[in-house]
Amino acid sequence: MVSRVIPVAPFDLVLFGATGDLARRKIIPGLFHRFAVGQMPADARIIGAARSEMTHDAFLNLIRDSLEEFAPKAAAQPDKIAAFLQTLRYVCLDATGKAGWDDLGQHLRPETVRAFYLSVSPRLFGDIADNLNTQGLATPQARIVVEKPFGHDLASAKALNADLRRVFDEGQIYRIDHYLGKETVQNLMVLRFANALWEPLWNATHIDHVQITVAESLGVEGRGEYYDRSGAMRDMVQNHLMQLLCLTAMEPPSRFKPDAVRDEKLKVIEALDPVPPDNIARGQYRAVKGDGGYRDHAGDPQTRTESFVALKVNISNWRWAGTPFYLRTGKKLRARSSEIAITFRDPPHMIFPKMAGRRGNALIIRLQPDEGITLRTTIKEPGPGGMRLVEAALDLTFAEALGPHAEAQDAYERLVMDVIRGDQTLFMRGDEVEAAWTWVDPMINGWEESRESPAPYDPGSAGPEDALMLLHRDGRRWRDLAP
Ligand code: BG6
Repeated sequence: MVSRVIPVAPFDLVLFGATGDLARRKIIPGLFHRFAVGQMPADARIIGAARSEMTHDAFLNLIRDSLEEFAPKAAAQPDKIAAFLQTLRYVCLDATGKAGWDDLGQHLRPETVRAFYLSVSPRLFGDIADNLNTQGLATPQARIVVEKPFGHDLASAKALNADLRRVFDEGQIYRIDHYLGKETVQNLMVLRFANALWEPLWNATHIDHVQITVAESLGVEGRGEYYDRSGAMRDMVQNHLMQLLCLTAMEPPSRFKPDAVRDEKLKVIEALDPVPPDNIARGQYRAVKGDGGYRDHAGDPQTRTESFVALKVNISNWRWAGTPFYLRTGKKLRARSSEIAITFRDPPHMIFPKMAGRRGNALIIRLQPDEGITLRTTIKEPGPGGMRLVEAALDLTFAEALGPHAEAQDAYERLVMDVIRGDQTLFMRGDEVEAAWTWVDPMINGWEESRESPAPYDPGSAGPEDALMLLHRDGRRWRDLAP
């Protein structure tokens, strides 16, 4: 297999918040990798913009240090680093005032694609957009890229959309959900829509239920203060899990074009039933043996923010009525493991002896780690002694099947190049984000009104008991989180 790198056109990328954590960890290393493989033209310009007074050389040193720390392959490529640093410039700029904007304008080339990447607090989106406008920098070929969190609730998401749309058309706005940049998440669309095999089975007639799990083994250490204002519902469900749900449940779009895909995702969100409190389990990890619990990390001994949430979700449409989707995500769980598990219904009539513990067919799409696909099937146990059945897996582990080409790029690499190419397929549209908040808000408001605390769970477990019950009472069980 030959890896194909299609170079993008020359561009000017302004990175607001260039000295911040996300820029240093993800965006700059991602750009470097694209540069190193030859996708980024040598005359591309990356203009770091931030509040700090800093010389050009000091900025380059910061970037060099970031690459050493966060781009493991960079150290072996000193020539590439030197060439990459040539593409960088730095502008000290006041996002909410007037200082620095003229200087920024000097670095931008009139005919070149320009992208403004806002790796800053959403509070600054409106001011930056307005400044870009008044300085005449928001040209028709400009794009603006924004990070999550995109709002805290429906009202704030609408306000952010209004701030951006004062200056930019929807076709110029790129709202990042980095889950859409993950190879395996994109593969979900290919699995569904490039193979005729699944489609006839992909509905409530044949699928018993779907489990979507995004489990993390780390806690909120260090990010406690931010996270406590958000919680698992806002931080993960409203965006990442919602995207996984949409890609699993949506109708085949007529073509692989941004609005065709996003229209279908929106229809899924709009078909979600409101979730009653009985179908929600919330948890918060507790302290054990000197290891701080969520409340210690959040710095608030009374906090009612959830570090775990599980939901039973019904989709009211022809394809899915009667097939629940169970979603769960949490911090400090037994394993870091993200997957989508599609469990099929049993054969209508079984001619073989009952097999203890048989779980039936399931298609498991492993998103991370150990990306791949497993199809759980029932086979005959070899040997004499009658027809005994066992379960065995057809296993496709991408790393084995695809060799070096399975090496996943970081999500940001793909997404930033899509911005330059002008492809919005893997970005959230404004109405999609608002629809997701419309669905999530009543659940969060319900918790705030009830003032109930989430149920405590042990670090290293699979979450609180309530989450297990959510499936048990339907005669089902969660898949094990690999230890
Ligand atoms: C982020 C959340 O969006 O996604 C984090 O804010 C979470 O809380 C992270 O840890 C998970 O991303 P990944 O790529 O590590 O699965």
